[in-house]
Amino acid sequence: MNVLVTGGAGYIGSHTCIELMSAGHEVIVVDNLSNSHPESLKRVEVLAGKSVLFYEVDICDADALSAVFETNTIDAVIHFAGLKAVGESVAQPGRYYHNNVTGTLVLCEVMANYGVYDLVFSSSATVYGDPASVPINEQFPLSATNPYGRSKLMIEEILRDLHVSDHRWNPILLRYFNPVGAHHSGLIGEDPNGVPNNLMPYITQVAIGKLKQLSVYGNDYDTVDGSGVRDYIHVVDLAQGHVKALEKLSENPGAVAYNLGTGRGYSVLEVISAFERASSKTIPHQFVDRRPGDVASCYADTSFALQELGWKASKGIDEMTRDSWNWQNKNPNGFVFESE
Ligand code: NAD
Ligand code: WQD
Repeated sequence: MNVLVTGGAGYIGSHTCIELMSAGHEVIVVDNLSNSHPESLKRVEVLAGKSVLFYEVDICDADALSAVFETNTIDAVIHFAGLKAVGESVAQPGRYYHNNVTGTLVLCEVMANYGVYDLVFSSSATVYGDPASVPINEQFPLSATNPYGRSKLMIEEILRDLHVSDHRWNPILLRYFNPVGAHHSGLIGEDPNGVPNNLMPYITQVAIGKLKQLSVYGNDYDTVDGSGVRDYIHVVDLAQGHVKALEKLSENPGAVAYNLGTGRGYSVLEVISAFERASSKTIPHQFVDRRPGDVASCYADTSFALQELGWKASKGIDEMTRDSWNWQNKNPNGFVFESE
């Protein structure tokens, strides 16, 4: 298949490009590089041994996006492009709604103009809000606690409405839990701008000496050791889930959501221990107050994805921490070179 990957230069998108190409698909990337570096795609080409057609295009720009559809035959779209920082979304809600929601509306309009109705969308476990219990299945009630999460929820609803209005639309909504890790080569990985918000990149930057110590947000949750529990998933497993979702599109599944997680939760302290084992580094840490908006425990019921997509995560916490460290250790400054 010829697959258009929006946001393909980013963290999850770049790993997915590799898995798509190794499954025999042709990949066309559009990305405005607002949160990524073109070097990531050069490394994707090295790893895949194939070139990637890249367009530096903003998905909000209907004309530029239409030109990509005009010059290429596109069978399906995997839509990663979006802004993803929760705190930033609280400070800049308009920017988040415009980029994420308007961007998706423009994308869908252009897709329909070119007769493309197959779409895999990057949703998030954040759409479950504060879940009443764990594990979380796809039937749980949906809610949002911040503009980022609300943008995902709005997009899910828009995509469901598109399917209701026209059954040619097949939007697959993939709800990722906590993506971590990197390609085992250490050539591509997560390259956050500024001080990371997320746990794993924060830990790797402490390990490499860029940050002094980790603050553990809360030690009094009702969890195994008082720290927050999450379902960390290796980004390569996640990328393979997208290939499975793409295959599912041939069955015209309509609007359907799948959890992509491992089904196993780890506490912050367990992640620190696993990382220390994998890296032989000590991660200095201190407990601080809970972070507002955090939930105690969040992990997936993954049975629907297994049943419907034949997909199951295979990499455990040791591979996740090993590969996160390998990437950080080999690329202390991410994709930005010393000379830049
Ligand atoms: P990322 O920032 O690394 O990748 C997103 C890419 O989209 C970047 O390359 C960015 O430059 C591009 N982009 C943003 N706005 C664009 C626009 N208007 N036009 C064109 N390109 C644009 O993030 P990621 O971690 O790879 O996440 C990919 C998707 O998965 C996002 O939609 C994110 O919300 C979602 N998601 C991520 C996580 C996570 O923890 N990483 C969890 C759940 C869902
Ligand atoms: C994980 C655990 C923290 C940093 C976020 C988004 C979610 C999704 C994934 C996009 C929690 C603890 C963290 C730190 C810590 N993104 N922590 N010290 O909050 O589960 O999910 O990323 O869709 O929408 O909300 O991930 O990595 O920030 O936190 O103690 O410096 O680590 O409290 O328990 P989170 P995270």
